[in-house]
Amino acid sequence: MTATDNDPEEAGPPRLASALMESGALTGEWLPAYRAVPRHLFVPDTIWPGRAGMNRQDDRVTLDGDPDLWWDAVYRDAPITTQWDGGRYTGPQRGRTPTSSNSMPTMVFTMLTALDVAEGQKVLEVGTGTGWNAGLLAHRLGGDNIMSVEVDHTTAAAARDRLRLAGLHPKVITGDGAEGYADGSPYDRLIATCSVGSVPAAWREQTVAGGLIVTPWGPAYGGEAVARLTVGEDGTAEGPFVASSAFMRISTQRKSFPATARFPKADRWPDVGVRSETTLSPDDVGDWIHMFAIGVQVPDLFCRVEWLDGGSYRLWLLNMRVSAWATADYVPGHEKFGVVQFGARRLWDELELAWRWWDAQGRPGFERFGLTVDDDGERVWLDSPTSLVPVRR
Ligand SMILES: C[S@@+](CC[C@H](N)C(=O)[O-])C[C@H]1O[C@@H](n2cnc3c(N)ncnc32)[C@H](O)[C@@H]1O
Repeated sequence: MTATDNDPEEAGPPRLASALMESGALTGEWLPAYRAVPRHLFVPDTIWPGRAGMNRQDDRVTLDGDPDLWWDAVYRDAPITTQWDGGRYTGPQRGRTPTSSNSMPTMVFTMLTALDVAEGQKVLEVGTGTGWNAGLLAHRLGGDNIMSVEVDHTTAAAARDRLRLAGLHPKVITGDGAEGYADGSPYDRLIATCSVGSVPAAWREQTVAGGLIVTPWGPAYGGEAVARLTVGEDGTAEGPFVASSAFMRISTQRKSFPATARFPKADRWPDVGVRSETTLSPDDVGDWIHMFAIGVQVPDLFCRVEWLDGGSYRLWLLNMRVSAWATADYVPGHEKFGVVQFGARRLWDELELAWRWWDAQGRPGFERFGLTVDDDGERVWLDSPTSLVPVRR
């Protein structure tokens, strides 16, 4: 082992770069920026390391207290939570909701590649977070061409400081990124690093015709992917989904689901409901892509899981209008599952129809789906904009 191997600041960046290049996430066009704008300059001293592909965080790690764990987290291909509950929780475990992070490097470079930037272009980023992504963009295109909006004052101020120390000068604006940043518009590219369930009109208005919007997008039910939308002369934004993602929601669209107790006669489960059995296992409809395919067809559906004994659970299906509920009971090893439905709609039947439609299409992955956004709303399609995904309600 050489001295360099022992120095995480020396050994970490090339180790992660090799992994990212091997997977194809980091390409030659972004390698110079990756080298010049090291991730560790943007990760705060106190972090909650995440796990790749999972919405889970480890206990708090500090650079002073656990330098090995800190450096390991920084040069691992995983997201790092940097703020909980708007800064209200700073304790050793986890708060309720992660509200800022330094994104997973694979996701950062996948999205930057999808952004397809060229010299001289002007870019708006929504969700400055730690400032790493804004720094990478500023290195590539020059600070004058990069605007980045962050809703949280403390986060924005810390990002400004880190960027300055790294010798990078994008403009960091404190504000609501759902409004874009009109003063700097129009933009050739807009990239959001927080997810939306509906693309704000301002983003389309502030992007030039022929420009691109790259944003994580997902329905209320769950599932999410990065949409790469081209803005047309008429202001329509349209394009495919390019990668599965799991970002925190933009503050203005945070999901807030009504409590189960508010649903009509939910306290009288199962007596008031219509009972049936299904051969579709509740355990086979819960992957990220299943949730996406179901969620885009039944836009106001959401779910809760009630854990029972022995690995069994009850999947509750509920709607935002608070007018119907359904449950499906999963029991390991069983081939039929009990269903109870009540209210204005049959929510399990809707879910099952949506899942069977997805199955009949050959179980498409995210990349076969696409999105069109215009003044009439949003439409999800499969393979081509003319082939709309059915909306069941
Ligand atoms: C995943 S983090 C961004 C990661 C960041 N790009 C980086 O390089 O570290 C998402 C950020 O979006 C911010 N955010 C949430 N809602 C926002 C809004 N309405 N406007 C601007 N920023 C918002 C959060 O405060 C959070 O810092």
